[in-house]
Amino acid sequence: MPSRKLLVTDIDGTLVGDPDATRRLAEVLAALREHVILAYATGRTLRQCEDLAANPHVIQPDVWVTEVGAAIRYADEGPDEAWRAKMAETWHRETVVQVVAGWPELTPQSAIADGPFKVPFQIAPHDAALVLPKLAAQLLEAGTPARLVYSSQRDLDIIPAAAGKGPAVQHLARRFGLGLEDVLTCGDSANDRDMLVLGGPAVAVANAHAELTESGLPGTVLRARAGFADGVVEALRHYGWV
Ligand code: GLC
Ligand code: MG
Repeated sequence: MPSRKLLVTDIDGTLVGDPDATRRLAEVLAALREHVILAYATGRTLRQCEDLAANPHVIQPDVWVTEVGAAIRYADEGPDEAWRAKMAETWHRETVVQVVAGWPELTPQSAIADGPFKVPFQIAPHDAALVLPKLAAQLLEAGTPARLVYSSQRDLDIIPAAAGKGPAVQHLARRFGLGLEDVLTCGDSANDRDMLVLGGPAVAVANAHAELTESGLPGTVLRARAGFADGVVEALRHYGWV
């Protein structure tokens, strides 16, 4: 029996962004489907992924990791209830909303970007540097320890302390009985960092933001020459998956 592996790719700036590359990756993945579990890991909510679910040039994944790793849904079984319970343990969404109301530097995103476990904003980099540490301390004090994930020099996602793409990928590896050496992670921005540094094969695509590539990425993370989904194909070849 062929060995099972797990491919986890970010969506915006990695899977999508160059439609021709997205199609080329879909062709490569079609041939791998039998022995590679496919997961998309994104800052989007599941509702924000509906355009992808309807895109014939995008292979439908086995797992949707949404809300920056705060929610996991299996195509065949629905939501991961154990993960949901873990997220709910320390999360009081109303408290987060109340605490952030004191910070006018934070601009809410659109309602569709709001998730049960993600409160998303936009904030300028110079404001973020000042506000984020204080906001994190206030949330902790208010009884809702949270992770503040700032990416693309613009997006701030407030998620439960135990969330993140990295922890979600570790959870998936355990659930599927895979070692991290059999888990390939692919991304382009800061919210991908914690899954890229888990120790397994990983790639930062060529168009990756400096916030990721200049954040002291370990040498084990391939810096692809190709951009967007072509960078994922490059990684599949580099690591000998195709
Ligand atoms: C996606 C989501 C947005 C989030 C960003 C970073 O663009 O739509 O809500 O803030 O990813 O995770
Ligand atoms: Mg991205």
